[in-house]
Amino acid sequence: PKVKGLNGCDYYLYQCFWYDPSFLEGIMSVQERFNPQSTDIFLASFPKTGTTWLKALTFAICTRSRLSGSTTSSLLSKMPHDCVPFMEYDLAQNPSNRDLAIPLVSTHVPYTCLPKSIISSCCKIIYICRDAKDVFVSLWYFLARLQMSENVEPLLLEEAFELFCNGIANFGPYWNHVLGYWRASLEFPEKILFLTYEEMKKDTAAHVKKLAEFMGCSFTLEEEEEGEVQKIIGMCSFEKLSNLEVNKNGKCLLDISIPIPNSIYFRKGEIGDWANHLTPEMGARLDDIMERKLKGSGLKLPR
Ligand code: A3P
Repeated sequence: PKVKGLNGCDYYLYQCFWYDPSFLEGIMSVQERFNPQSTDIFLASFPKTGTTWLKALTFAICTRSRLSGSTTSSLLSKMPHDCVPFMEYDLAQNPSNRDLAIPLVSTHVPYTCLPKSIISSCCKIIYICRDAKDVFVSLWYFLARLQMSENVEPLLLEEAFELFCNGIANFGPYWNHVLGYWRASLEFPEKILFLTYEEMKKDTAAHVKKLAEFMGCSFTLEEEEEGEVQKIIGMCSFEKLSNLEVNKNGKCLLDISIPIPNSIYFRKGEIGDWANHLTPEMGARLDDIMERKLKGSGLKLPR
């Protein structure tokens, strides 16, 4: 089956999730032939749930020993997506498109559609999710800016909302994306770390330490005393990253080589901005859908 999706492209249903043709091609290609390194750590997310921030934090955490005392982090000159490759586009196009010394790979692929090689490996996975209302608003703005940069009329917010509530978005339904990783994290807690954007915002320091521990590179007492955790938080903050020249005026290549402004990955970085864009009725409708879909799973997403 296919439907007209949020970005005006046809979306196709494949293994119970919706994709536009370019993502579908990437997923099928990695399902066939992607082979992780045993030390790889996958950063998994639905689009607009905090992928860029998670990439920045994990990259800063795992490269810190090389950097201590210096200000030459690649994050200052490269946008986080250029520091950590996406499996289904960067690596699908060219598996050597990565720095093997950095054990990070990111993906939007739902858990049940991941290449078997990842599931059967001892690779770890870090999943981030976020309140559905903020995800939708963030996604709508992202697509609208992308479409305007290509001189395409964006879909009305109300029309896009209707599609999202019906599960139609790249890698959607959102709730099934979340549930797949949630269930897997209950089954394999040592393999999958399940995080939320909201909890990370509320106590970033605790999460930076948790991430480091999970990634096998905990902070030493000495590092903590030297303020290493705070340095990483500062370097990866929305304020810092969104004001860097590379993220303000640079461009990156999204799938089929259309240069897109890096700035569209940095909008507001806040919790609850949905209330400025959706009516209370729309908010309640999406909350209700999420509640029904997650019922019985033991997962309660922050609102
Ligand atoms: P908003 O549109 O709500 O501002 P993704 O990285 O998965 O594409 O998600 C993008 C969302 O994360 C956007 O949310 C963006 O502003 C926010 N974001 C980007 N960098 C961030 C950072 N360093 N800290 C917190 N949020 C960030």
